[in-house]
Amino acid sequence: MASRQKKMDAIALLKADHRKVEDLFAQFEKARDRDRKEKLVKQICMELSIHTMIEEEIFYPTCAGQVKDDDLLEEAYVEHDGAKVLVAELMNSGPDNEFFDAKVHVLSEMIKHHVKEEEKRSEGLFAEAKDAGLDMDGLGERLMQRKQELMEEFAEGDNLPAPQTRSFTGHELQQGKPIGAGQAAD
Ligand SMILES: [Fe+2]
Ligand SMILES: [Fe+2]
Repeated sequence: MASRQKKMDAIALLKADHRKVEDLFAQFEKARDRDRKEKLVKQICMELSIHTMIEEEIFYPTCAGQVKDDDLLEEAYVEHDGAKVLVAELMNSGPDNEFFDAKVHVLSEMIKHHVKEEEKRSEGLFAEAKDAGLDMDGLGERLMQRKQELMEEFAEGDNLPAPQTRSFTGHELQQGKPIGAGQAAD
């Protein structure tokens, strides 16, 4: 469903994505029905995948060297990668799996923090990008074009690839059993 969206500058577009995902998380917190939860999480994973991709492919590289504080950008990549781990977890599980709701909740907290860093007045990444005089209209068009391409490619989340990290470089984690939950320690 590649609906034509109205033209927005880069910051308006990215902020609109933030509001959309916040709304999806809020809907999830209220949802009780398992199918509804599953559908919402699929949508959350798709929205976050597209949003992180357009920021990483277009917005962040344009900010690099232009904003006052490149540390903000580096932290943004790391925060994205942290969120991708949970997105990947959620893509491979469902509402019947243990920790599913907790993973969604923790992901929402991580995103809330990240969005705050991007939108913070005067010293946030978006504010710095604005101060740097980047062409926000041109950037907005490029972001929208890429977003529409990805929405078609990912087919409402039915065709969503595993997230690709940029700052995490291939550590393999060991899996352990959950502790507690009524099991006696031996
Ligand atoms: Fe963002
Ligand atoms: Fe971001």
